[in-house]
Amino acid sequence: MVPSGIQDSAYSPPHFFYCRCQVSGVRCQQKAGVILPAAGFGTRMESNQPKQFLELAGEPILIRTVKAFLENPEIHCIVVAVAADRHEQVTALLEQNISPEKLDKILLARGGATRQQSVKSGFDTLPGEIELVLVHDAARPLIRTDLIEDCLEGVREHGAVIAAVPVNDTLKLVDTNDTIVQTIDRAGIYRAQTPQGAQRHLLEQAYQVAERDGFTGTDEASLLEHAGIPVAIVSGEEQNMKITRPGDLKIARCLLGEHPMIRIGHGFDAHRLVRDRPLILGGETIDFPMGLLGHSDADVLSHALIDAILGALGEGDIGRHFPDSDDRYKDINSLHLLEHAFGLAADKGYSMGNADLTIICQRPKLAPHLEQMQHNLAGACNSPITTINIKATTTEKMGYTGRGEGISAHAVVLLRKA
Ligand code: CTP
Ligand code: MG
Repeated sequence: MVPSGIQDSAYSPPHFFYCRCQVSGVRCQQKAGVILPAAGFGTRMESNQPKQFLELAGEPILIRTVKAFLENPEIHCIVVAVAADRHEQVTALLEQNISPEKLDKILLARGGATRQQSVKSGFDTLPGEIELVLVHDAARPLIRTDLIEDCLEGVREHGAVIAAVPVNDTLKLVDTNDTIVQTIDRAGIYRAQTPQGAQRHLLEQAYQVAERDGFTGTDEASLLEHAGIPVAIVSGEEQNMKITRPGDLKIARCLLGEHPMIRIGHGFDAHRLVRDRPLILGGETIDFPMGLLGHSDADVLSHALIDAILGALGEGDIGRHFPDSDDRYKDINSLHLLEHAFGLAADKGYSMGNADLTIICQRPKLAPHLEQMQHNLAGACNSPITTINIKATTTEKMGYTGRGEGISAHAVVLLRKA
């Protein structure tokens, strides 16, 4: 079923479109369209659904790609080639994420068993008035509008172009035993990206020749080359990566700031000093006639550090993770809670950048214990000792800490993406 907004056959453009370019001094009126092949299985991604439907910074990859082309005023029509059994899913996704007036620009085509077949099906679905055709992998959602413009401009100038980037690394030919056979001269070697585009009649000619010869290529340029049609290079962009394997998704998420490289958190805690409790600070038991009151061991320094870590992760606070109504945490060694909190950071791929802690305590003198506390906290965070700095200060007998009624602690933490 095709919803009212998304058309799958007849196409009536909402506006007549004049592109801004000049070809041979004549004002060009060519209409541009793009085909987005999105019918692959994403086998190398090893996910439970094709990669184009996975979320990237809060949006499915396919939607990001569609929006990139919708933003470009020169693109008159977008044909998305999708697997037959995904038709309804894609329709619903588009309706949820794209405003109704823009849906008019989008057509769905039935994808095929290979990328080439999917693109060809998209090509056959293009409205007749589209004369300039781009093809862009749905799995390249980081495409920037500048590159789209460069490719359109390139097609007008050269007839057929692809976005490509020069190879930076030294190239090795390797045999089946993973042994180098030869170093390949990388001069003039480029990695092909998309968009790849051509004047419609050139792409049509390339398809006819490919069909005649039974030729299959992994991109449009291969077909154009096979037909003897020159294809020029437009400077691509490293960030215009194809999401192919799980690691690519992680990189794309970092590029979009979904998982920032650093995160900062602050923690504060205070506990009352009472008789008949041990005084435990930073995992160290300190000889003193009074100790801190609390449900756990009331280690105010470890608690401040835990709160700073949880804060950096956006994971609330210590009370949410270790409620004082839970008997499991009665008198517990807070270093175990710290281990757990830092484990959450490690699970999200963060390591300790550094932590700076201040204990506010009138008595006892803490200087002799600071180094051991540093060891204990660094150990619980599985981090080098140099990442933890602990200071102790008094408030010159002012306030509740100055009167010896309690001890408080501040912690600031910087977590770094490992
Ligand atoms: N594609 C397509 N139809 C196919 C195969 C691929 O439309 N039969 C699309 C993919 O959805 C993707 C683009 O072509 O947007 C590039 O292909 P690729 O990265 O190889 O994606 P998949 O084929 O889905 O992944 P894999 O090869 O790992 O299975
Ligand atoms: Mg593939």
